[in-house]
Amino acid sequence: MQKWSFSLPTSFRDLYMRLTLLGFCFLYSSLVTGAQAECPLQLNPQRVVVRYGDSVEVNCNTSVPHKGMGWEADEGRVSKNQSQNLITWRVSNLTEWDIKPICFINPNDRRQCQVELPVTVYKTPDSVFISTVNHRGPMMEGQQYELQCDVHNVAPVEYLTVKWYKGQTLLNQTTFPNTSKTPENKTVTLLIRPDRADDGAEYWCEAELDLGADGPQPHPNISSDPLSIAVYYKPKINETKLPSVVRVFRGYAEVLVCEADGNPKPTISWSVSSNDNKNSETLNITESTPENVSCTANNIVGSTTKQVKVSIQENYIPIIVAIIVAVVVVIFVIFIFLYLTYYKKTRIGHYDLKRPNAHISISFVNHKGELIVGTQYELQCIIRNVDPSKSVVVRWYKLSQTSSPDTNKTLVSSASNLQISPSKTDDGAQYWCEAGLEAVGTQPYPTLSSERLNITVHYKPIINELKLPSTVPVFRGYPEVLVCEAEGNPKPTILWSLGANEIKKSETLIITESTPENVSCIANNSVDSTTRHVKVVLKEDYLPLIAGLIAVIVAFISVIFIFIYSIYYKTAKMGHYSLKDAKPSAQNGNVAQNGKHNPIPMKKLSQSSILA
Ligand SMILES: *[C@@H]1O[C@H](CO)[C@@H](O)[C@H](O)[C@H]1NC(C)=O
Ligand SMILES: *[C@@H]1O[C@H](CO)[C@@H](O)[C@H](O)[C@H]1NC(C)=O
Ligand SMILES: *[C@@H]1O[C@H](CO)[C@@H](O)[C@H](O)[C@H]1NC(C)=O
Ligand SMILES: *[C@@H]1O[C@H](CO)[C@@H](O)[C@H](O)[C@H]1NC(C)=O
Ligand SMILES: *[C@@H]1O[C@H](CO)[C@@H](O)[C@H](O)[C@H]1NC(C)=O
Ligand SMILES: *[C@@H]1O[C@H](CO)[C@@H](O)[C@H](O)[C@H]1NC(C)=O
Ligand SMILES: *[C@@H]1O[C@H](CO)[C@@H](O)[C@H](O)[C@H]1NC(C)=O
Ligand SMILES: *[C@@H]1O[C@H](CO)[C@@H](O)[C@H](O)[C@H]1NC(C)=O
Ligand SMILES: *[C@@H]1O[C@H](CO)[C@@H](O)[C@H](O)[C@H]1NC(C)=O
Ligand SMILES: *[C@@H]1O[C@H](CO)[C@@H](O)[C@H](O)[C@H]1NC(C)=O
Repeated sequence: MQKWSFSLPTSFRDLYMRLTLLGFCFLYSSLVTGAQAECPLQLNPQRVVVRYGDSVEVNCNTSVPHKGMGWEADEGRVSKNQSQNLITWRVSNLTEWDIKPICFINPNDRRQCQVELPVTVYKTPDSVFISTVNHRGPMMEGQQYELQCDVHNVAPVEYLTVKWYKGQTLLNQTTFPNTSKTPENKTVTLLIRPDRADDGAEYWCEAELDLGADGPQPHPNISSDPLSIAVYYKPKINETKLPSVVRVFRGYAEVLVCEADGNPKPTISWSVSSNDNKNSETLNITESTPENVSCTANNIVGSTTKQVKVSIQENYIPIIVAIIVAVVVVIFVIFIFLYLTYYKKTRIGHYDLKRPNAHISISFVNHKGELIVGTQYELQCIIRNVDPSKSVVVRWYKLSQTSSPDTNKTLVSSASNLQISPSKTDDGAQYWCEAGLEAVGTQPYPTLSSERLNITVHYKPIINELKLPSTVPVFRGYPEVLVCEAEGNPKPTILWSLGANEIKKSETLIITESTPENVSCIANNSVDSTTRHVKVVLKEDYLPLIAGLIAVIVAFISVIFIFIYSIYYKTAKMGHYSLKDAKPSAQNGNVAQNGKHNPIPMKKLSQSSILA
């Protein structure tokens, strides 16, 4: 008892420790082995995925002493054995769909316990078949159709996925609620509404078994054959090739092309007018084509018509071409002009004629002011600051105001100095000189030009002798006017001198029989003076005498006329004679005309006729 009492605290402690250890062990084993926690068995592998008809092997072992262990299963059962710690469930041809093998043990210290092996028996489909539902042949664009995928004899459908593809594109997929473990037939449908792009597309479906990480990799799958569909669609006319409005240039025929896309291939026709149809893709249009034409594309699905408005355009191409040519010409001319300007500048830049200091001037040698007619003068052209090594050519120009109305310059001379002897028409003319380097080839002549020198030419008075003859007859009783006109530069003053002391300051002079016999007109300016002497001859008045003479002649002719007239009655052939007789009086008229250069007798004669 004493021993007990002694060892009691130790036993208590020991028991406590054992209990604690047991608790930990329980906890540990329940963590590690889960469901088998209380059953000391281990399955290897812990679950299997087996193809129907394939072989399978699973070990079951234990580390505890036991009175026997074995496998209970519909196929491959292993009877209880006491001497083994590891027993194997083995089936060479697994043909049970819903098999549930169990490994059991009868431990020495406990009651019998067991572990179930999860088994998945699968079978890939015998066939996967795609078809259309209630339809044969080509499909119509935009309508709905049903495709069907039949998957035959597959298990377990729990792991089956049926996928739909168009070409390589996944369209949809279907999974199934987990129901039976045995093979099933599954049918999946797909609704499609094909468009024209789907013509010739290939649809197919695929049955895939995803059996998880323990299952075969890659996933077993079976595909259907592709189903190629034909889609029929209404013709569509290509708008880019055939616009609604076609512009045609007058005189340029155009070909319209009507292309239409359709299945089956459409037939194309052009309607030009109500009764004129052309079965052709192309239509030649000219200005005689009607305004409205239309293209119709037709196939069994339907027909499409496109109206085309033919707009005849005036042909502006020649005008445009002309404008372009004109613009080009203008640009070309501007270019030439700019080029020449530039070229001239650069050329002159090379010469020193246009040096900033270069200077040219024109002047008279030893003379200033106006020039006198008949005198010789010398003009000089002075050029400064020109490179003396260059040979300079001087040209003289004269611009005459009076002689030529056009202001073209005249090249006068090329000498260094110019001798001029001005005439009175040179009044107001301009002279200038130009200096240039000697011309190189046909290049423009680079020049420096002097200022223009206006010249004034003075000349002595010139009396108009036609208006003032040197001898003037004056009839007694008839005063006469003498006119003295003179030109000169500066404008001359006119004087009449009547003898020694009498001076009349006027252009006109009235002469009578009392006027002295010698008078003179003096025209005077700053250059010189000119004198014209006029001799005044006093004449008697012969008019009464002439009148008497004419009266006698008239009387004489009258007598002859009367004599001839009286003879006419006897012979009647004198008419021609009397006509010839009229001539002498016409001769008198001519005599009077001859004296026209002297206006004074003419006037006199007319005055006397009035008197008569
Ligand atoms: C079963 O055997 C394996 C070795 O084959 C061993 O690692 C394992 O611990 C054993 N299981 C049990 C419960 O004894
Ligand atoms: C147990 O297994 C051993 C070895 O495989 C075998 O010899 C024995 O016959 C078996 N016992 C029974 C009862 O089947
Ligand atoms: C498996 O069993 C089935 C039916 O029991 C049989 O038809 C088949 O030929 C067997 N396969 C093998 C490989 O033995
Ligand atoms: C895919 O198929 C399911 C039925 O399996 C259907 O409910 C769903 O609408 C389909 N999805 C498409 C995009 O077709
Ligand atoms: C069906 O599968 C789900 C998981 O996908 C699982 O939880 C459930 O137990 C299964 N039912 C049957 C009857 O096998
Ligand atoms: C599956 O379909 C095949 C052929 O159509 C038929 O022979 C078989 O009985 C079907 N199986 C089931 C489970 O309906
Ligand atoms: C289908 O099976 C083939 C081999 O037969 C494999 O190469 C392919 O990857 C599988 N497809 C999928 C989606 O697993
Ligand atoms: C129309 O014609 C053009 C030019 O040939 C082409 O590029 C285009 O693809 C066509 N359009 C259609 C819808 O056929
Ligand atoms: C249309 O023009 C083409 C050449 O431009 C010519 O070959 C063809 O014969 C013409 N067709 C008709 C119907 O005039
Ligand atoms: C052409 O069609 C337009 C409308 O599309 C119509 O207004 C016009 O009168 C037609 N011209 C002819 C000549 O028929």
